[in-house]
Amino acid sequence: MRDAAEPHARDAEEAHARDAADPLAHFAAEFHYPRGVDGRRPIYLCGHSLGLQAKSVSTYVEQELTDWRQLGVLGHHAARNPWIGYHEALSEQLAELVGAAPAEVVAMNSLTVNLHLMMVSFFRPAAGRDCILMEKSAFPSDRYAIASQLRMHGLDAETHLIEIEPRRGEHGLRTEDLVTRIESLGERLALVLLPGVQYLTGQALELEPVIASARRCRITVGLDLAHSIGNTLLNLHDWNADFAVWCSYKYLNAGPGAIGGCFVHERHAHRFDLPRFAGWWGHDKETRFLMGPEFKPMAGAQGWQLSNPSILSAAPLRASLEIFRRAGLQRLRAKSIALTAFLQRAIENHLPGRADVITPTDPEARGCQLSIRLRGTPLQAKRCFALLTEAGVIGDWREPDILRLAPTPLYNSYTDALQAAEALARAARS
Ligand SMILES: Cc1ncc(COP(=O)(O)O)c(C=O)c1O
Repeated sequence: MRDAAEPHARDAEEAHARDAADPLAHFAAEFHYPRGVDGRRPIYLCGHSLGLQAKSVSTYVEQELTDWRQLGVLGHHAARNPWIGYHEALSEQLAELVGAAPAEVVAMNSLTVNLHLMMVSFFRPAAGRDCILMEKSAFPSDRYAIASQLRMHGLDAETHLIEIEPRRGEHGLRTEDLVTRIESLGERLALVLLPGVQYLTGQALELEPVIASARRCRITVGLDLAHSIGNTLLNLHDWNADFAVWCSYKYLNAGPGAIGGCFVHERHAHRFDLPRFAGWWGHDKETRFLMGPEFKPMAGAQGWQLSNPSILSAAPLRASLEIFRRAGLQRLRAKSIALTAFLQRAIENHLPGRADVITPTDPEARGCQLSIRLRGTPLQAKRCFALLTEAGVIGDWREPDILRLAPTPLYNSYTDALQAAEALARAARS
């Protein structure tokens, strides 16, 4: 007779074997783990919200504190990493993560601020072409930003914001539906704003054909990459997106409220005719300190900067990018695909009929994150999440009923994934 525990024992064996063979496993030791109330290390599956702190971060931040302490203002040029060009040192690695040239990216501000700056330049409504298309369940900040930009142009969201949602009974947006909608709206659209990975469902959109259809209709395309950068493979330059914005505190592990980033396609690098909000850090750096009254923007993404960047906020990003450089995004992605599939299988094995993963199963259509709907009443589902947290598994809950768990390839193991599924099953039973 087959032992009911047998498949679970096989899962444990498989987790151990996969961890032992994982060429990236050693990176986990480079991160700090929070401590639970009982002093134990929790299973941290929340990189989609706030990534863990790398141990090297304190060295990077300490370096800037030391240089500031010892050099004062001279640190702008004499610091070990001169502050005057600190942000530029981030560009090469950021460009690699998003599939762009270094001149197409810049680390600056935070995501929503960058989204506004981009829309000032790239949302240019004209008679008849004055609508924006976005997805219905977009992260609220994006919708607030868009509605306020529409108002700035004397337009209202009710008429000029068009929201697309998945078909009835489906969780993800189909590529063909996005393309058809874009092509049917055509001339009415001035801007399409889409996420790389949808924050609630974890769906990774198939960006290339969608961007291509918008470009055929001469519609500007912007992307919110909050849940994509450092998670999925991106090729923004070749895909021809007009602009993209991101934050660095999720998969990039750069700390709460860390400096964000922005991509502006090369074809706009010299569009000095575009309206833009200006600040001295976007001014031609050769003449910035001549302190002239006229703004002369730099070519490329840097021309959209406003202020000199926060070095203390950029230092953890620098530490993180150094880790990404060593790990390699391709290798991380390969592990991520296997790890997330393993977590999904473990959940299905341990909670048969009790939990529905609403994230697409196709690895091309998702990143690390799994979004899970627990069966039962909303109260039972929320209680289950509370018990899971008490058991030392850190995920998060998004109203009304979504549990998000993201095994991240830099610091999570297959054993983490299995133990999380086991804890979820115990929580669902009690
Ligand atoms: C998809 C998405 N867009 C925008 C934001 C807002 O980011 P910020 O507060 O850095 O502007 C977030 C924050 O989590 C997000 O997840």
